[in-house]
Amino acid sequence: MADARLRTWLCVILSIQILIKSEAFNVGITYVQNAVAKGAVCLDGSPPAYHFDKGVGAGANNWLILFEGGAWCNNVTTCLARRDTRLGSSKQMVKELSFSGILSNKQKFNPDFYNWNKIKVRYCDGASFTGDVEAVNPATNLHFRGARAFVAIVDDLMSKGMSNAQNAILAGCSAGGLTAILNCDRFRALVPARTKVKCLADAGYFINAKDVSGASHIENFYSEVVATHGSAKNLPTSCTSKMKPGLCFFPQNVVPQIQTPLFIINAAYDSWQIKNILAPGVADRHGTWRSCKLDIKKCSPNQLKIMQDFRLEFLRALSAVGTSPSRGMFIDSCYAHCQSGTQETWLRNDSPVVAKTSIAKAVGDWYYERLTFQKIDCPYPCNPTCHNRIFDANGKSEDYLTWDWVIQNEFSVLSQLILCSSLQNIAPQSHESSPSSPDPAYKRPKKCDFSVCWFLS
Ligand SMILES: *[C@@H]1O[C@H](CO)[C@@H](O)[C@H](O)[C@H]1NC(C)=O
Repeated sequence: MADARLRTWLCVILSIQILIKSEAFNVGITYVQNAVAKGAVCLDGSPPAYHFDKGVGAGANNWLILFEGGAWCNNVTTCLARRDTRLGSSKQMVKELSFSGILSNKQKFNPDFYNWNKIKVRYCDGASFTGDVEAVNPATNLHFRGARAFVAIVDDLMSKGMSNAQNAILAGCSAGGLTAILNCDRFRALVPARTKVKCLADAGYFINAKDVSGASHIENFYSEVVATHGSAKNLPTSCTSKMKPGLCFFPQNVVPQIQTPLFIINAAYDSWQIKNILAPGVADRHGTWRSCKLDIKKCSPNQLKIMQDFRLEFLRALSAVGTSPSRGMFIDSCYAHCQSGTQETWLRNDSPVVAKTSIAKAVGDWYYERLTFQKIDCPYPCNPTCHNRIFDANGKSEDYLTWDWVIQNEFSVLSQLILCSSLQNIAPQSHESSPSSPDPAYKRPKKCDFSVCWFLS
């Protein structure tokens, strides 16, 4: 009994320490209800949604809008499959998301943006917020209205204070990074001219490369996305006047014309692009790429050679960004995808660096024009600071199965733990949530969770 008490109190002390150290915090959801009347909706017709942490002090008039990712749906079948998921309906979204990295509210973890108004927009249209089809087929009830949703979300934020913005960043990761590129100048035009606006695309520089079988897999896929969602009229006309609209979904074909300052964060061996552009399942019938795609350390010399060629092709496509000082780039040689929204890759003592600079510092220097930053890392495996992704056989990422993950994501459990502990009448429970979730943001705490204290028992 005395032993149990001691254990409990040790655990309470530990919990308090972890609470103080916590890198993430939870932010509730806001639905853009008035968007429904404008038909500016998610795939299922529900209102778009975002999570909003209000700016404070010197950041009160600064706005960072980060668009969530989640690939795309390219036809009625695949859009129907996502319609009733969190990627197609705000009815299916969790009510709280954890903010960290570029969304952190702590100066130490996010020195340039911690006190800004920080918004994470949930992805729910399936086409990086570019679609607009008036007709809704009653048989499927699919709404292809991403472009309208984008405007409705920006309008809503304007009414919440963004109309007074001094500084603003349109950002996003993955399909959300592409949202930031494709809608960059549109966003610039929607906010007041006096606002200093820049765009930041993390892991959104998807390139038009052939797959390992020689097929134009991603090119065909994007042209189906654009056709299904009626995106052509919302893509930059400087591109659509020159080539097929499906090609204007590729950053390399639109960035030369973008007027607004733009920063590209991307891994040269972007894990999503390796898995879905270079070696998609359809191009790898015998599964020879399977283990390599899960863990770059398992790639054969021949596969590594193909990946080095992919990097060179990526760099050729990236040359479209140009070298204007308004443009920034951080291209590390990691096997990664989305590095700004998690603390471990954004800014920590062991986070990735290129030219001795963290992503947080490179982006902050560029935004505030302290320094330009246009750096491309030497080829894999030259960078020991990478946090290379390792996926399990279901394709889910295991890289959060670390003590740091616990510190980052279990802290709200720990406050409950303190409460539970003080009640004394407690029994350790098993840790229910799977450690291999693709997105730690969706971990929800359980009551009286003792996973953190396992080593004391
Ligand atoms: C829809 O797209 C998926 C993925 O590319 C493909 O497998 C499927 O055959 C397509 N379905 C139709 C009806 O075109």
